[in-house]
Amino acid sequence: MRVLVTGGAGFIGSEYVRMLLGRPGGDAAGVPGIEPTAVTVLDKLTYSGNLNNLAPVREDPRLRFVLGDICDAALVDEVVADHDVIVHFAAESHVDRSITGAVPFVTTNVLGTQTLLDAALRHGTHRFVHVSTDEVYGSIDEGSWTETWPLSPNSPYSAAKAGSDLLALAYHRTHGMDVVVTRCSNNYGPYQFPEKVIPLFVTNLLDGGTVPLYGDGGNVRDWLHVHDHCRGIAMVQEKGRAGEVYHIGGGTELTNKELTARLLAACDAGWDRVTPVADRKGHDRRYSLDITKIGEELGYVPSIDLERGLTQTVQWYRDNRAWWEPLKAGGTSAVAA
Ligand SMILES: NC(=O)c1ccc[n+]([C@@H]2O[C@H](COP(=O)([O-])OP(=O)(O)OC[C@H]3O[C@@H](n4cnc5c(N)ncnc54)[C@H](O)[C@@H]3O)[C@@H](O)[C@H]2O)c1
Repeated sequence: MRVLVTGGAGFIGSEYVRMLLGRPGGDAAGVPGIEPTAVTVLDKLTYSGNLNNLAPVREDPRLRFVLGDICDAALVDEVVADHDVIVHFAAESHVDRSITGAVPFVTTNVLGTQTLLDAALRHGTHRFVHVSTDEVYGSIDEGSWTETWPLSPNSPYSAAKAGSDLLALAYHRTHGMDVVVTRCSNNYGPYQFPEKVIPLFVTNLLDGGTVPLYGDGGNVRDWLHVHDHCRGIAMVQEKGRAGEVYHIGGGTELTNKELTARLLAACDAGWDRVTPVADRKGHDRRYSLDITKIGEELGYVPSIDLERGLTQTVQWYRDNRAWWEPLKAGGTSAVAA
């Protein structure tokens, strides 16, 4: 099976590539049922794309890296032609950046996805896995969203992701393309660009600095370890039903204040290191996914509890300053996502 991974040099896409190929000396020996003969990464290497994320599998002869933009129709046509499956991660992914400038979000997330879908349609790609987000639903005060819940996105990021998510499903309904969509909650883990809340807070604290907490800190997120997310995507790639949406969650909801308390404790820091900042514009209050469907149909259960996952993640940032220090020196946004 030849797999094309768009955005495979980013945080989640690179975990997927490392998982598919099996990390040398790591805890994963590939994915049962998925035996890639070739894995191609198509990535534009924006500020959040980083070839160092693929270092553990760099020598694998099955890996090929193509530097390019998913909006480049000629290139996309050429690359897609050689693949059986596309797993589509490439996106502009940071909500704060979408508030200050929405153009790249609409361009990459919507037009880029349409460019890929058109190429997949022309070449008869066997399966197109579109990686979406719980943010397409907006915000929910109580209970949890099921996969049939109406979409009601609030930020330019989530609106552009909703556009791409619906386009992917439309190509299934209109053209009969084999498309599956995953919608996941907030990811954390190694190799996450230090503008997102967990790596931003951890790296600031490890550097002796302060951390910016939005508003009253009461916004609730369900935290999902990136490895569990990728396990879920692999299950959907392998066994998901065409035209269906599957939620992938971590099962641990925390307010930002509770998350901050855990990160402060993990870094031996106190609340004097927290700086309250004005709330994000249009900040969604709570996200909550019902993950019954993927559990019942595909056997997905999150395997890394938050306590263990956060401890390992903080340790990874302690041990890998050489990975994140140059990224912070290059400038990251000052406020967390
Ligand atoms: N991080 C999360 O918590 C989260 C939650 C839900 C959904 N998602 C979705 O998962 C996917 C991956 O997210 P991430 O956190 O790894 O993001 P990321 O920003 O770390 O990685 C995005 C990757 O896409 C690449 N890219 C951006 N524009 C491109 C273009 N025009 N052409 C080719 N490559 C391009 C970047 O270079 C980067 O390598 C995204 O689709 C995102 O919407 C992420």
